[in-house]
Amino acid sequence: MSADPSSFASAAKCVSRHLNLSLHVDFESRVIRGKVAITVEVLEERLSSLTLDTRDLKIVSVDANGQAARFTMGPRHSFKGTPLEITLPFDLSRGQHVIVEVTYRTGPTAPALQWLTPQQTAGKKRPYLFSQCQAHHCRSMLPCQDTPAVKHTYYAQVSVPKDLVAAMSALRDGQDADPQDANRVIYRFRQNVAMPSYLIALVVGALESREIGPRSRVWSEAEYVDRAAFEFSETEAMLKTAEELAGPYVWGSYDILVLPPSFPYGGMENPCLTFATPTLLAGDKSLSNVIAHEISHSWTGNLVTNATWEHFWLNEGHTVYLERMICARLEGEPFRQFKAMGGWKDLQDSVSTFGAQNPLTNLVPSLREVDPDDAFSSVPYEKGFALLYHLESLLGGPEVFMGFVKSYIQMFAYRSVTTAQWKDFLFAYFKDKVDVLQQVDWDAWMFTPGMPPVKPAYDTALADACIALCRRWIQATERDLSGFGASDVAELSSHQLVEFLALLLQEEALPLSHVKRMQEAYDLDARMNSEVRFRWLRLCVRSRWEEAVPAALRMATEQGRMKFTRPLFREVFGFDKYREEAVRVFLAHRSAMHPVTSGLVAKDLKVSADQ
Ligand code: BES
Ligand code: ZN
Repeated sequence: MSADPSSFASAAKCVSRHLNLSLHVDFESRVIRGKVAITVEVLEERLSSLTLDTRDLKIVSVDANGQAARFTMGPRHSFKGTPLEITLPFDLSRGQHVIVEVTYRTGPTAPALQWLTPQQTAGKKRPYLFSQCQAHHCRSMLPCQDTPAVKHTYYAQVSVPKDLVAAMSALRDGQDADPQDANRVIYRFRQNVAMPSYLIALVVGALESREIGPRSRVWSEAEYVDRAAFEFSETEAMLKTAEELAGPYVWGSYDILVLPPSFPYGGMENPCLTFATPTLLAGDKSLSNVIAHEISHSWTGNLVTNATWEHFWLNEGHTVYLERMICARLEGEPFRQFKAMGGWKDLQDSVSTFGAQNPLTNLVPSLREVDPDDAFSSVPYEKGFALLYHLESLLGGPEVFMGFVKSYIQMFAYRSVTTAQWKDFLFAYFKDKVDVLQQVDWDAWMFTPGMPPVKPAYDTALADACIALCRRWIQATERDLSGFGASDVAELSSHQLVEFLALLLQEEALPLSHVKRMQEAYDLDARMNSEVRFRWLRLCVRSRWEEAVPAALRMATEQGRMKFTRPLFREVFGFDKYREEAVRVFLAHRSAMHPVTSGLVAKDLKVSADQ
């Protein structure tokens, strides 16, 4: 197994098998006081020390099988954090187990955690805490072997103020009054399926929930529950479709938590409890593909896991592939083709943002001394999907290729895999078609920057209307502008509207008169679908429409999904006259932003850490 460049822990020496967590969540000091007992299996002879990942943690004490153990903190690394080196009070041999117990406190700048004031919540009355551990942030919530190569089960007890509710990426196992403090409650959780550390997740807030299916509830602040239940009503249908495609769902329940607007991602596949941004609440279920995506991770990602973040495409590429198979089953094959085309465009955008020579646009990049957050882009998703779709068309179509994906899942379930293992299995599965596989330019697909060597042919049935309307706008002269009207878009779905705007964003900026006319004709300003609004505001700023600048900065700050917030800030920053305004607005909001988002936006806007 290749070493993980994002972690100090060595999965070759020993591996964590189970975590027993006790967490005390203190909103006054914004600290979690924790104790974690890790059951470690020894993989080598005469093991006398081990290393855990930590970041910004204060380590209080370490025990091994109940005996005090010596420990030291190594030098701090910019994004890996600080290795916790533990010397065991005894030697162990291969096959033995040891329970290492660490008592610790989280730091005020833990990148895994966002602590929200009551003002930052929908209810405005109670504080809120949520975690986001992927990729390498779990170590700032608890000391652990923070590498996806290692899988463990977990049990947790979480003490919180009694008017708040805690939830985790696990099954609920009851709650009791905290015997130490009458004002607190202890919630218990168990995760019986072994999973990597990045899938540990915690939320504490004034949460309510509502049933949406036989194994599913939605969770959120009271203000969002009904809208969320409506938006995600297709959950059970998606789960059943996913099971038909990929095999049984092994995690028991599948709940969805709708977070406050600063949640940095669209969705996060925390087992048993997907975390989702409220920007999915479009009112018409049109953004539910994100739920199909997170459901798909229950197989690709959570059961079969990338061994390191260099193999992230195994998680995301296969998940996008499964997501689009679910969409094909529920909406029809033309819709899959349409979404695949949109994905190819997202890939082009990422490649042009990073630069076509940038090694981070490799499907399998080297992450030596690269922060996984800096490497994040659509590349692993869409270059990964494009490769799988290309293989699908070479090897016999969706039914045949889905057979491979299902077997890959069965083969590697409960394990972590590298690209080499995936490829060996592909060649073994298609042993009768090795000649076809040998024609694939693997080096170009996997280890070469820029766009893939082959552009898949997608059916354009649903995209044609978007392409034609985009052409009309690009070619229109001032005199043609009166010819545009509401009927141009009356028949377009919100997906098609998104595609139309995305196509325009790949062209030279439209003249300002054109976007003003577009607003008159289509009233895009009134569209509240976040995917539509995001692209519309970018288009307006791109055409130097000054009135759009405050609206763009408002969207960038009123919600914090990085997919929207980062490009909106960058777009305004690229408008010379408003460059300083972008920086000013960022600095004004910075302290209330999610730590990872504020770090990345600071880099995007070339703002230094102490500015
Ligand atoms: N696992 C990712 C989110 C993630 C990736 C968090 C890397 C931290 C580090 C999640 O499954 C995801 O891909 N979400 C997408 C959904 C989309 C591709 C349908 C998102 O957030 O937009
Ligand atoms: Zn994903």
